[in-house]
Amino acid sequence: KTGMFTYDPGFTSTASCESALTYIDGDQGVLLHRGYPIGELAEHSSFMEVSYLLLNGELPSEDELDKFTYTISRHTMLHEQLSTFYRGFRRDAHPMAVMCGVVGALSAFYHDSTDITDPRQRMIASHRLIAKMPTIAAMAYKYSVGQPFLYPKNDLSYTGNFLRMTFGVPAEEYEIHPAVEKAMDRIFILHADHEQNASTSTVRLAGSSGANPFACIAAGIACLWGPAHGGANEAALNMLREIGTPDKIPEYIARAKDKNDPFRLMGFGHRVYKNYDPRATVMQKTVREVFDALKVDDPLFETALRLEEIALRDDYFIEKKLFPNVDFYSGVILSAIGFPTTMFTVLFALARTVGWVAQWNEMISDPEQKIGRPRQLYTGPTERPYVPLDAR
Ligand code: SDX
Repeated sequence: KTGMFTYDPGFTSTASCESALTYIDGDQGVLLHRGYPIGELAEHSSFMEVSYLLLNGELPSEDELDKFTYTISRHTMLHEQLSTFYRGFRRDAHPMAVMCGVVGALSAFYHDSTDITDPRQRMIASHRLIAKMPTIAAMAYKYSVGQPFLYPKNDLSYTGNFLRMTFGVPAEEYEIHPAVEKAMDRIFILHADHEQNASTSTVRLAGSSGANPFACIAAGIACLWGPAHGGANEAALNMLREIGTPDKIPEYIARAKDKNDPFRLMGFGHRVYKNYDPRATVMQKTVREVFDALKVDDPLFETALRLEEIALRDDYFIEKKLFPNVDFYSGVILSAIGFPTTMFTVLFALARTVGWVAQWNEMISDPEQKIGRPRQLYTGPTERPYVPLDAR
């Protein structure tokens, strides 16, 4: 229908929506954002540029990129009372619980950008969400480790600002390692959007009722937290730690194939990709870059490589077309940079916010859009008369 791709009628009838943002071919392992291959964006672009692309449909000129980056930088601070909100949580609260709560609370502070019928307010809310997520994420981490919050410094890049707010302390300046900043920015690009995944569909369904964008993104964060979805990066590194050394891999492969065992290989398999997730390819390459730059080595990377090698030779995984996905290697990198596993899904949510916001905008600005209302196949009892309590 767009001239570039044609739908087969069968597919259109099962599609939940039409969207021009992201195209995935699961059989070929293709991922395009507004037509640009994820591998090329990861190699040559920046998260700010990809954010502009997803929101506006075209790669920005230098001037457009500067203006967009400046606009985002004007919204990076949080209302000061929100830092009090953090103090209501237990210190050992999971950072995803904190992020979910704080993002949901944003609509209590930024009412001047909750009228979804006003395109100007929609754009301000979009910029606020993209800009504030790094601050919210960094504050969730600082709160969990009992360190003071750091304010954003807008002379830093979007990603550099996040790294400093997360790892910096008032006692000394945090030195942003260029290779770490580049790897982090690339990881954000790899997580930016992914068509109608569970959390994006949650944001669209919540938004279809006219709910304010902050509440919709909070709903998306809640959905992403699940271990079958965005929580898989945390689960994948915990799994690699449990496996430990490569000699233990056969035992876990056997468990993953055993239908009576709930264990699954975390970071493997995908609802859409029946081929290698193109994001996992870039992620694997990035591991080596970060290890070399930081002069670190983590034996879990070797375990991950061996696990992939053995699984991809196994008939079960070949027959079911199970390949590593975006979550398989990301944890090894994030751990090398210094993030605890509990922050991994927070980082996924930080990056996916631009995809959620772009998809929400695409839906809400369509004058034809209606409230979502999935139907069901009823499998309960047929109609029957009420039975009084004394007759039961
Ligand atoms: C993300 O949708 C997106 O786009 C999501 C995402 C995004 O960017 O938004 O890409 C991010 O969520 C990636 C996925 C992260 N999750 C994990 O890595 C968790 C481990 N993976 C599985 O839980 C699983 O692969 C799912 C949930 C991702 C998909 O599960 P499905 O829908 O059951 O997968 P499937 O139908 O293709 O499975 C086919 C078969 C099934 O067995 P049978 O019922 O046919 O006997 O393969 C089995 C599954 O049980 N299977 C696995 C497996 N994944 C699927 N067996 C062992 N280990 C696994 N990881």
